[in-house]
Amino acid sequence: MPSTSDVLPATRPRSLLSLAPVVPVVVLDDLAHAVPLARALVAGGLPVIELTLRTPVALDALRAIAAEVPEITVGAGTVLTPAHAEQAVAAGAQFLVSPGATPDLLRAMGDSGVPFLPGTATVSEVMTVLEAGVTEMKFFPAEASGGAAYLKAIASPVPAARFCPTGGITAATAASYLALPNVGCVGGSWLAPRDLLEAGDWAGITAIAAEAAALRP
Ligand code: 3PG
Repeated sequence: MPSTSDVLPATRPRSLLSLAPVVPVVVLDDLAHAVPLARALVAGGLPVIELTLRTPVALDALRAIAAEVPEITVGAGTVLTPAHAEQAVAAGAQFLVSPGATPDLLRAMGDSGVPFLPGTATVSEVMTVLEAGVTEMKFFPAEASGGAAYLKAIASPVPAARFCPTGGITAATAASYLALPNVGCVGGSWLAPRDLLEAGDWAGITAIAAEAAALRP
């Protein structure tokens, strides 16, 4: 495993988990939706967006949001390889999120110079990430991996770890995660539903974002 000094950038980043109670996780098919979506989320009180690197337009969408919506913190999700990390940061990503973590990926994300959330789903994976000097991480896929009950159960044995659970979380279940001491925020795709994106219903997305923003007064 890389040591702490191998992984963490020289300047410790601010906490990613404090940007908003909910990080909108977005799978974007149409580049034209990127900027209006980012503006709709900001208008609802969520100044953060994670663009998954799963569609051909993802990097261009990152670039567009970074250039045109400076009030949002834009990051890349589904970072699977060191090359993804490099490409995302070159496109303007201000943070990186991965579904899991390998030693190479941890090192690359640490070298990227931006904050990052490596994915974990087991106690051993959490301990591996902690050994690398990283205390904030994604818990994925949250619901399928044991949900809020699992995170509650590991809060005492591994108190140094803080999580952004993501995967299967809804507007109805988010609060049960946010009530836990080891959860800083949750991630979810319910903020940018495909039907509202295709309809260009930006007011509808702002309304969903406002409800999510209110989860942490
Ligand atoms: C993902 O990577 O797709 C996120 O975990 C989002 O999961 P969700 O669609 O279940 O919110």
